[in-house]
Amino acid sequence: MTQRVLFLPGDGIGPDIIEQARAVLGHANERLSLGLDFDEALVGGAAIEAAGTALPDDTMSRAREAGGILLGAVGGPKWDHLEMANRPEKGLLGLRSGLGLFANLRPAFLYPQLAEASSLRPEVVSGLDILIVRELTGGIYFGQPRGVETLESGEREGINTYRYNESEIRRIGRVAFESARQRNGRLCSIDKANVLEVTALWREVMEDLAREYPDVELSHMYVDNAAMQLVRDPNQFDVIVTGNMFGDILSDEAAMLTGSIGMLPSAALNESKQGMYEPCHGSAPDIAGQDKANPLATILSGAMMLRYSFGMEGAAGAIEKAVQDVLEQGLRTPDIHFEGTQLVGTRAMGEAVLSALDTHL
Ligand code: NAD
Ligand code: IPM
Ligand code: MN
Repeated sequence: MTQRVLFLPGDGIGPDIIEQARAVLGHANERLSLGLDFDEALVGGAAIEAAGTALPDDTMSRAREAGGILLGAVGGPKWDHLEMANRPEKGLLGLRSGLGLFANLRPAFLYPQLAEASSLRPEVVSGLDILIVRELTGGIYFGQPRGVETLESGEREGINTYRYNESEIRRIGRVAFESARQRNGRLCSIDKANVLEVTALWREVMEDLAREYPDVELSHMYVDNAAMQLVRDPNQFDVIVTGNMFGDILSDEAAMLTGSIGMLPSAALNESKQGMYEPCHGSAPDIAGQDKANPLATILSGAMMLRYSFGMEGAAGAIEKAVQDVLEQGLRTPDIHFEGTQLVGTRAMGEAVLSALDTHL
């Protein structure tokens, strides 16, 4: 595997936040002589404008050559009228499926300094440390048949198909059981097994796997209840495993518990641990280019890349400590700002992390 990092800024706030993450990674690279080399390519709406497609071949081949990919975000109102197959989001989905990035790790961790920014009361949310393991290359996002058809009556019908085969369920299950084993040994599988056959099968496969992991305590929960439990008592969870769409929704919900969607990083890994890393949020067109976006989820995604794709635990930990330092200093982008803290923009936040990094390298 090369030590190459591919940056894919994408759209909206994507370029704003990637600029900061790239500077932080570049600094660590220089100071610690990590031997990473940096590349950049187009994806999403930016690629549609420049090359007529959301995932140009050139981007895909450079992605295949990279040890780690850091993506900003894709999409925006400019491209919302396009057909589904041509939209910016297809660029992201194409990277995920083309590289086989089935295992999506989304850690919802509350930095103690942000307890007041959470939408939950500090006593409910303090100590929050959940890992959501989301299946990323299957389920209703990719199931066939799909599309919009015209019925004999002339009326149109929209179709998506929710399917998982056993091996897809088993491989994401393994990632989740292994993660739980390295954490507090508790795994909650979230499904809709009371209504959907595909998730009844999901539950069965998880039960089967549990026999191989006697040290992990497996529980099951229906997704509607899980959405409620996450805001009632989030600390009951350690590791959550779920399908593509439920994982998408629940991770945005969990993000808000940590203070902001701008705080939640992610890793998407394939069988050979090649990875694409991205913040869980979108392109936030409402604040794009205004120096308002929180770059921390992207910077923390960069740290996850160093850890999972390159085994550079020291450098990853240093970046995470630097993030903690700037929060301790009281610096806040608007999304995590509250009384008594200092309002800063995207750039100032990134620069503060970069300076704090020096004390940890
Ligand atoms: P969004 O996450 O872009 O924005 C939701 C809200 O959160 C907005 O108010 C936004 O300002 C805020 N927000 C998001 N990230 C932030 C940050 N880093 N700092 C501060 N505030 C932040 O979701 P949306 O509005 O539903 O989607 C906008 C576009 O992004 C759509 O085109 C969607 O398809 C796309 N999207 C892309 C990704 C991705 O590339 N991974 C993820 C989600 C949505
Ligand atoms: C995410 C996003 C994507 C998803 C979209 C943009 C395809 O919401 O990464 O969470 O639904 O997976
Ligand atoms: Mn999402």
